[in-house]
Amino acid sequence: MTASAQQTGLLDGRTVLITGAGSGIGRATALLASAGGAFVFAADIKGQDETVAAIGESGGEAEALNLDITDAGAWESAVGNVLSARGRLDGLANIAGIVSNTDTLLSQTEEGWDRLIAVDLKGPWLGMRAVIRHFLDAGAGKVVNVASTAGLIGMPDVLAYSAAKGGVIAMSRQVAVSYAAESVQVNVVAPGVIRTPMHGDVTPELMTAVKAATPAGRIGEPEDIGNMIVYLLGPGSDFVTGQVFTVDGGWTAQ
Ligand SMILES: NC(=O)c1ccc[n+]([C@@H]2O[C@H](COP(=O)([O-])OP(=O)(O)OC[C@H]3O[C@@H](n4cnc5c(N)ncnc54)[C@H](O)[C@@H]3O)[C@@H](O)[C@H]2O)c1
Repeated sequence: MTASAQQTGLLDGRTVLITGAGSGIGRATALLASAGGAFVFAADIKGQDETVAAIGESGGEAEALNLDITDAGAWESAVGNVLSARGRLDGLANIAGIVSNTDTLLSQTEEGWDRLIAVDLKGPWLGMRAVIRHFLDAGAGKVVNVASTAGLIGMPDVLAYSAAKGGVIAMSRQVAVSYAAESVQVNVVAPGVIRTPMHGDVTPELMTAVKAATPAGRIGEPEDIGNMIVYLLGPGSDFVTGQVFTVDGGWTAQ
């Protein structure tokens, strides 16, 4: 059975907004959500049109949103557009993110720190803030925030990134307990190393080392993360909130 076939029907009738949908994990999630029956709003600053085209080619329905997740006004108009076009929004997956290759305590700059925190921490906050009033009015809604194993354990060369991802985990728990009684669920997926363009400048030697250190014996694929996100956007997770799902082939279980 293929990954997408497993999730067929899981999101039937639902409308979801997925950030970072132009590449990597976001694109895979958008395709899997569509295969699961959702109408997908594919949001990104680049690549979102190609994702919408790919969804169309596989028989799904999607619309592209040009959305810079660091821009509060852009979030308000994006959610407004979704609601006027579809009349509903059932889930938000905050997947867009960046890394930096000069991200150590001594090499990180103030500008670099501010940018990482703006995209990787403030972005998901603005996204949750933009959808939550609608979720409360509608009486239900789901948020899935993508953090990282770097938000859970110490890893080299990811100073500001770790701070942002750890912040996403703490923030998600706070929002989860605040709105649990209103049938709004907020969960986190923390991926290990996943084969996406984000790792474009990582050497093959490092990838081989990561593979060797992973109990599952392979690098993760974007669909490994997308499947978990689709599950958390679906009805099976109605009693699940404030949790962190580490998807890393067993790496952090060692
Ligand atoms: N790839 C991994 O190994 C890995 C591991 C742990 C966590 N993650 C997280 O998964 C998420 C997706 O990463 P990926 O590997 O698919 O990377 P990617 O680079 O393939 O995709 C990231 C997407 O985010 C978009 N983006 C960046 N800044 C944006 C902004 N300001 N507004 C809107 N969109 C913006 C980019 O345009 C891109 O399409 C990120 O949050 C990343 O931190 C990735």
